[in-house]
Amino acid sequence: MTDFNQTNWAKAGFSQQYIDKADIYIVERRRMLGLLVSFYNHFLRGKPNHILDLGCGDGILAHELLKVDDAISATLVDGSADMLRKARERLKDFKNARFINASFQEIIKKDILQPDFDFIVSSLAVHHLDMAGKISLFKSLYAHLRPGGFFLNVDVILAPAGSLEQWYLKLWQEWMDDRKAEFGISDSISDDIIRRYKDNEDNKPDTLDDQLNALKNMGFHEVDCFYKYGIFSIYGGRK
Ligand SMILES: C[S@@+](CC[C@H](N)C(=O)[O-])C[C@H]1O[C@@H](n2cnc3c(N)ncnc32)[C@H](O)[C@@H]1O
Repeated sequence: MTDFNQTNWAKAGFSQQYIDKADIYIVERRRMLGLLVSFYNHFLRGKPNHILDLGCGDGILAHELLKVDDAISATLVDGSADMLRKARERLKDFKNARFINASFQEIIKKDILQPDFDFIVSSLAVHHLDMAGKISLFKSLYAHLRPGGFFLNVDVILAPAGSLEQWYLKLWQEWMDDRKAEFGISDSISDDIIRRYKDNEDNKPDTLDDQLNALKNMGFHEVDCFYKYGIFSIYGGRK
């Protein structure tokens, strides 16, 4: 598993570049956030839930949940101190948020996640681990979920066939072209990000099937893909 400090996310400036362009890069980001909130309201709302946002970035996922339910206490984890600073700033009005600067590799190796969680969420971060790393992380998350709790991952996945991948990447390009037209942006960021999705040592997407099977094999149930648009997906399960 690559050490977090050797990835681009550990470099100053990289995180701001992502934050500035995320609504263009990430297909239907607002819809996916809406689905996350709907999932939370349907399955979890009504008790003082403890949530974990893994690879939280600037805290956008935790923020969406804290906005709808002030009974939530949230733990946000990211390997990047720069991102965590942005998350702290974003959530400065919420007293029930705490922040941990740790990599997934540290979470897997050391028992730094305490206490147990009702809802573990992550967005566009788990694909930075290879499949063996994902399995180790899922095991750790399973161990830290309360019985009945959920894990939900918003992430990019690998298409199961090259022909499908070609169409999925075209869909992605079309989405970004539409956003660039909408916001009047003319740079070529979208070409580069599509290339970097796989041809970059930080990104290790795996197929949806492999990830759903990994969750099932370690004991998760109600495992499913809750949303999909090309390579973008939301999947998860219940302990
Ligand atoms: C694409 S950003 C997503 C941020 C946020 N979740 C969002 O949806 O906007 C990926 C995040 O994962 C973090 N990250 C990447 N690899 C990591 C690792 N091995 N351990 C911990 N955090 C990691 C990065 O620092 C970054 O904040």
